[in-house]
Amino acid sequence: MMKKDPIRVAVTGAAGNIGYALLFRIASGQMFGPDQPVALNLIEIEPGMAALKGVAMELDDCAFPLVTDIVQTAELDVGFNDCDWALLVGSVPRKAGMERADLLGINGKIFVGQGQAINDHAKSSCRVLVVGNPCNTNCLIAMKSATDIPNEQFFAMTRLDENRAKTQLAQKAGVPVKEVSDLCVWGNHSPTMFPDFYNTRIARQKATDVIGDETWLKETFVPTVGQRGKAIIEARGASSAASAANAVVDTVRDLTTPTRGSFHSVCVHSSGEYGTPPGIITSMPITVDAVGNWRVVGGIGLTDYAKEQIAASNEELLEERKIAFEQLGLSI
Ligand code: NAD
Ligand code: LMR
Repeated sequence: MMKKDPIRVAVTGAAGNIGYALLFRIASGQMFGPDQPVALNLIEIEPGMAALKGVAMELDDCAFPLVTDIVQTAELDVGFNDCDWALLVGSVPRKAGMERADLLGINGKIFVGQGQAINDHAKSSCRVLVVGNPCNTNCLIAMKSATDIPNEQFFAMTRLDENRAKTQLAQKAGVPVKEVSDLCVWGNHSPTMFPDFYNTRIARQKATDVIGDETWLKETFVPTVGQRGKAIIEARGASSAASAANAVVDTVRDLTTPTRGSFHSVCVHSSGEYGTPPGIITSMPITVDAVGNWRVVGGIGLTDYAKEQIAASNEELLEERKIAFEQLGLSI
């Protein structure tokens, strides 16, 4: 068999909680497959470099056969050099009592410099997944700052919300989670996100028929999914890390392999699909074809309630964009 060239993956915040849960899964082949070599560019800020050294030592100690080399750096030009994927995790997580949007002023500016460095040093085909919150708007900031990289190569993460929503429905229906399909989380990765239970299937039947309780779906299920990040912070005293890393693996794997099943939720640059405001990064149902191109799935019927919820979440994204772009001097 022909030897594959390594995929070079840059990860920011590599010594943080998500980084620690993520790197070993990339290195073991769970993201790009069991015969795909990977090179890791681990990026931290200076105060994180000592801990990063320890993480890199542990990666060495795993003797992962797929890992070709590991770069440790606080320099963005070195960190993003020649990378195929940039996983932008590094940023401050919220604490109890905060909303994700409260992080805009703290984290937004990070993504200007990172977008510019990706533009100047990564491969032109580099794909970027933003995890650091508020991830939709941070992704938009990075995209605007990487003027030569096509907008289609920027993504933000709502797969954790999709996974959470599937499990909530599976538990309510008393079935294994693999029976839940066709579930798209729309909008912003914030409490306004809308997990569309109307189009969801449970064991191939309509979820609304299986659950048989629309009030529960609207008044318990939707807010539980929207507030799950907060509930984890309250329970753990720290924001979700292993489940977030798992969702990063799921997102990248499902953007790099033909879609199994129907679709998955990913925040992408809107061209106005389903009436979303063009130009924002918002969550929609995505499929990937046999040659690796993604597209928004067409023809999904949305109820008036769903349309209202999605519109409200996208309205919030327009507001976040306005605040962030004013702060950072970016133009729409
Ligand atoms: P953490 O505090 O444990 O780790 C963050 C790491 O990023 C730290 O090591 C820090 O030194 C580093 N860092 C900070 N600024 C950086 C910069 N400019 N460049 C490179 N590294 C930098 O946080 P965490 O739990 O790993 O969470 C990281 C982010 O992910 C937070 O913003 C959190 O809210 C977000 N998050 C998003 C989702 C999602 O579904 N989209 C899920 C969970 C967490
Ligand atoms: C999550 O959904 O768990 C993350 O976005 C962290 C948070 O602040 O909720």
